[in-house]
Order: sequence, then C-alpha cells, then structure tokens
Amino acid sequence: MGEPHGIGLVGLGVISRQYLETLAGHTGVRVAAVTDLDRSRAEAVAADLPNARVVDDVAGLAADDEVRTVLDLTTPGAHADVALACSAAGVDRYGEKPLAAGLAASRKVMAAADAAGTRVGCAPDTVLGTGVQTARAAVADGAIGTPTAAVATWVSAGHEAWHPHPDFYYAAGGGPLLDMGPYYLTSLVQVLGPVAWVQGAASRSRDERTIASGPREGERVPVEVATHVTGVLGHANGALSTVTVSFDAVGTHARPIEVHGTDGSLVVPDPNRFDGDVELRRAGSKAWEVLPPSAGFEGAGRGVGLLEMVGAAGLGDVPGSPRAGGDVGLHVMEVMAGLLDSADSGRRVDVTTAPVVPPLVPLTPRDVWHG
Ligand SMILES: NC(=O)c1ccc[n+]([C@@H]2O[C@H](COP(=O)([O-])OP(=O)(O)OC[C@H]3O[C@@H](n4cnc5c(N)ncnc54)[C@H](O)[C@@H]3O)[C@@H](O)[C@H]2O)c1
Repeated sequence: MGEPHGIGLVGLGVISRQYLETLAGHTGVRVAAVTDLDRSRAEAVAADLPNARVVDDVAGLAADDEVRTVLDLTTPGAHADVALACSAAGVDRYGEKPLAAGLAASRKVMAAADAAGTRVGCAPDTVLGTGVQTARAAVADGAIGTPTAAVATWVSAGHEAWHPHPDFYYAAGGGPLLDMGPYYLTSLVQVLGPVAWVQGAASRSRDERTIASGPREGERVPVEVATHVTGVLGHANGALSTVTVSFDAVGTHARPIEVHGTDGSLVVPDPNRFDGDVELRRAGSKAWEVLPPSAGFEGAGRGVGLLEMVGAAGLGDVPGSPRAGGDVGLHVMEVMAGLLDSADSGRRVDVTTAPVVPPLVPLTPRDVWHG
C-alpha cells in the first residue's frame, strides 16, 4: 500500500469528533492539517493526532503539500466558500450537508469543480450503511412490486434543546428541511430514484428560539427560516413521496420512511444512522419480516463516504464514486429549494437535475472498509 491519502480538515465543532473516530487508525488516510476560525479548537485536535499541523485558514489547507482532499465540517454558510477555495487550488473536497447554503451557491460549487476537474463529495453518507442500502436492494429486487409511494417524517422541538451554538439552524441555509431533509431526501433518491417535480407548504411558529444548554443557555436566537416544511415529491418513476420535517413538534410515532408498492410495504430505518432494521410486509400477509442486511457498509460511521471517495473503503476505484457525491447533493438541494419556492408561490416546481444514482454498495464488513 502507498502513502496514506492526506486529508485537510476544516471545522472542528460538534460533528468533527464522529469523523475523527471513523478516520482514526485507518491505514489508508491521514489527517495532515487542520484549521478552524477558533484556532484553539484546531490546536486541541492537532495535539491528539500524529503529525497534524495547524494552518491559518482554508486557503492554507488547500495549498498544503500533503493535503489531497479537504474535509469540510464547517457550518452550512461556509460550505460554498470552502468548496470554491478547494476547486481553485485543484484539491478535492468532501463535506457535510447541505452541499451549500442554497441552490445558487450549490450550482456554483459543482460548476467550479467541473471546470477545475476536482471532485466533490457530500454527506449524508449514512445512506451508504446497511439500513438504506438494504432497503434499496430490496426494492430493486422487486420485494414491493412496482413502487407507488413513500412517506418520510422527521420532527422535533428544535436543536436549541441540545446544541451549544444552534444559530445556524435558524439562519439562511438552516431550518429543518436543509438540516434534516438531506438524510430523508437522499434516502428517497437512493430507493426510488431522482425527483422530477415538487409541491410544498411551509410555516414558522416563532421569531426567536432560546438556547437551552451550554455556555449560552438562555440566550435568544433569531429565526429567519421556515420551521415546519411539508410537501410531495413526484419521482421520475411515477412514485409520490410525502415528506414532513419540523422543528415545531414534540414527538412522533411515525416510522422514519415507509415505501409502498403494488406487492408490499417496506420500512426504511432512521436515515441519520447507518444501520437499523428494514421491515417488509408482503401483499397477502399481515406480518412484518425483518430483512437481513444485504448491502451497505457494515458498522459504518460518519466519514465512510469520504473513505469511499478517496478509494480507501475496500471497494477499489470503481465507476460511480463518490457514492456520497455532489451530483446527488445538488439534486437534493434543488428538491429542497423547490419545496420552499413552491411553499412561497403555491405552485408546483419542476426539478431540472436528474443525477445518475451511484451504484449500490455491496455488503462490506467493517474490517474491509476500515482496512
Ligand atoms: N451537530 C450534529 O449533530 C451534526 C450532525 C450531522 C451533520 N452536521 C453538519 O455538520 C456541519 C457542522 O455542524 P456542527 O454541529 O459540527 O457545527 P459547530 O458549530 O459545532 O462547528 C462548526 C465549526 O466550523 C468552524 N468554522 C465555521 N466557518 C469556518 C470557516 N470559514 N473556516 C474555518 N472554520 C470555520 C467553527 O468555528 C466551528 O468550530 C453542519 O453542516 C451540520 O449540518 C452536524
């Protein structure tokens, strides 16, 4: 095996810990440099990594000789600038969702990468785990006959209940749709294929939210975005998905995603996780059966999409990579922007992007993808 693939990491907040856990000990990659607006965070992380440097900013990261791919874990408002700096420097970028804080910025990111010949990967990579991939394989194998519909539901009372700096969830680029929508919509695209049109509706319950924990407990955060979004997605294959995402609810018994077809109904587990039971009820039966995992990265954690993109997840350099890619990220962004536009105008909105959905992940044990 050659030199480990050099990763430059920007954004050392809450989610970075999960990525560092996934990358730790992987012989195919090495975090070579880190940066954060808050330098003390970068220094604290670098101190725990073998031979990682702290650099001043994203430009320094992208220019670093040992960095081949930048991992962007900044907040959504910074994603486009980070991605554009990477393309300008000729460096690949894998980043957290959403691809950027809006449709125009997301298009710019992909156009700049195309022009520069750089690659763009985009979370969520949870959809590459055994949960969503097994569901996708079952639908592709005809387990529910012809797919007709899906219902996706994610609701909560809002992330200010637990996040110490929840401002970005209520600013442009945030809201329950841009924050949690990517998990649900990317899963629906994985299982049912691209979306051709959307019809949405949205509301906002309050103009301020109050931080409930951490050093800023009690501080108020302005709300600039819709906090309850619902709508219908018309998939190119004719299936209709009904989606609800909300920061304006207390709890739910709804299953994360149900997919219905002429011969069966399927429950897809939480798409914010990598695993979970896929349940199938076949036509004529009253019983739900749990399908054994048949596809996906077993026991995966956040960052497996980055490993796949850099060819370090045991699948080799296969066509279709990155499987957590910018093309699907842009499509999902167009679907989300369409839902919000439709909510404003009251009209149905056509979706123009139609990505080729990357190939199914074969069932891949942890010791293979984490070699
Ligand atoms: N927190 C979660 O549970 C969670 C889960 C999944 C995905 N995500 C996604 O991960 C991303 C980060 O979320 P988080 O919760 O870790 O946020 P966070 O606020 O905890 O951390 C973000 C970090 O990025 C740094 N940063 C922002 N702009 C920067 C810039 N231009 N240059 C350098 N550093 C910059 C901040 O200083 C901060 O340290 C978001 O896109 C979010 O949607 C978060």
